[in-house]
Amino acid sequence: MYRLFYVSTANPGVTNETLEQITENSRKNNIEKKISGVLAFNGFNFAQVLEGEEKDVLELYETIRQDDRHSGVILISQKPVDKRVYDSWGLERSDSYDFDELVKTMAL
Ligand SMILES: Cc1cc2nc3c(=O)[nH]c(=O)nc-3n(C[C@H](O)[C@H](O)[C@H](O)COP(=O)(O)O)c2cc1C
Repeated sequence: MYRLFYVSTANPGVTNETLEQITENSRKNNIEKKISGVLAFNGFNFAQVLEGEEKDVLELYETIRQDDRHSGVILISQKPVDKRVYDSWGLERSDSYDFDELVKTMAL
């Protein structure tokens, strides 16, 4: 099991509606790949934790990195872990305006 955390900057034109579309579509994809995680958006920046098999997580991260709805993607931390923090596959949405909660997750 592997966990990864990145932050990025939303490109102009990204709204809460874009976020809805991303989470809706990601939920399906992530369930298929047995990936769990959380995506937070504060109006300017994204922060996301992804967990699953290392290969799947890194592959998805590569795809996400190239998404033109955001830029300046910074990989904050990645590591092998014993178990998931987000226990249902898919993608949760965090409405938290700061990213503390996700940062704490990486320490587990
Ligand atoms: C901030 C952000 C987070 C994303 N998170 C995910 C994700 O967790 N899972 C996913 O499949 N796609 C995610 N995407 C979308 C991917 O970059 C890509 O568009 C998508 O995987 C393509 O899916 P499709 O082949 O079903 O169209 C994210 C995009 C952005 C901008």
